[in-house]
Amino acid sequence: MAKHVIDNEYLKEIDKARRDLRALISTTNCAPLMLRLAWHDAGTYDAKTRTGGPNGSIRNVEELNHTANKGLQKAVEFCEEVKTKHPILSYADLYQLAGVVAVEVTGGPTIDFIPGRKDLLESPPEGRLPDAKQGASHLREIFYRMGLTDKDIVALSGGHTLGKAHLERSGFEGHWTREPLKFDNSYFVELLKADSKDLLKLPTDKALVEDPKFLKYVEVYAKDEDAFFEDYAASHKKLSELGLTSK
Ligand code: HEM
Repeated sequence: MAKHVIDNEYLKEIDKARRDLRALISTTNCAPLMLRLAWHDAGTYDAKTRTGGPNGSIRNVEELNHTANKGLQKAVEFCEEVKTKHPILSYADLYQLAGVVAVEVTGGPTIDFIPGRKDLLESPPEGRLPDAKQGASHLREIFYRMGLTDKDIVALSGGHTLGKAHLERSGFEGHWTREPLKFDNSYFVELLKADSKDLLKLPTDKALVEDPKFLKYVEVYAKDEDAFFEDYAASHKKLSELGLTSK
């Protein structure tokens, strides 16, 4: 992905957009949806062909209509409100900024944000995002394709500390934690409990405790929230910059 030209004016608009996003996200409680938007724009990256990734292409109707993106139209609309006020920003930067702000305003770690993503109108083929009905080998296939690691898989799955699944969107229903608008390590605490039956565990969530290499990280994050926050911030930054620094 080629870099967008960054000057002082652009950086000032980033700051203003950050403030607008903070207000928008806290007044509408849309942090989970915004985080999911940022992740789904970035998570299509293919390191070999350097296609997909955080390039704003998720705003295309074709890509928004991919099955995995059901429900994200609303998040695109929220971001459009901010884009109208700061038209100089690329959609790609705006969506990733929204993801970073969503984590921050719900009490999560501060994630370093570097602007400069260029917008693309071309969407990747459908099927690059993970399928929640599968297991550990599928997760590795998808995240390794992006150039990410086992540690990234587990840390980023902690994004499910926020929000819920909706039957009409994914076929799954329920939230992962008891405070779905608070970013903390409770996703991992609940994963290790056998008795949290009223909470959601997708097959891909369960895979994190079934696979011994993944489990190692789950155990650390359940015990030590600081360790989770540190690794999450690093993995989220990597995800949000896929394809950005390599060219
Ligand atoms: C929601 C799957 C990774 C953040 C969901 C939903 C599914 C899902 C099925 C429910 C969608 C709905 O019905 O509304 C997966 C799978 C992953 C994964 C299979 C593979 C590891 C991630 C990552 C993040 C993330 C890496 C962010 C870092 C979220 C959030 C929601 C969500 C915040 C809640 C959205 C809302 O409340 O509207 N995910 N996800 N997920 N996911 Fe993931």
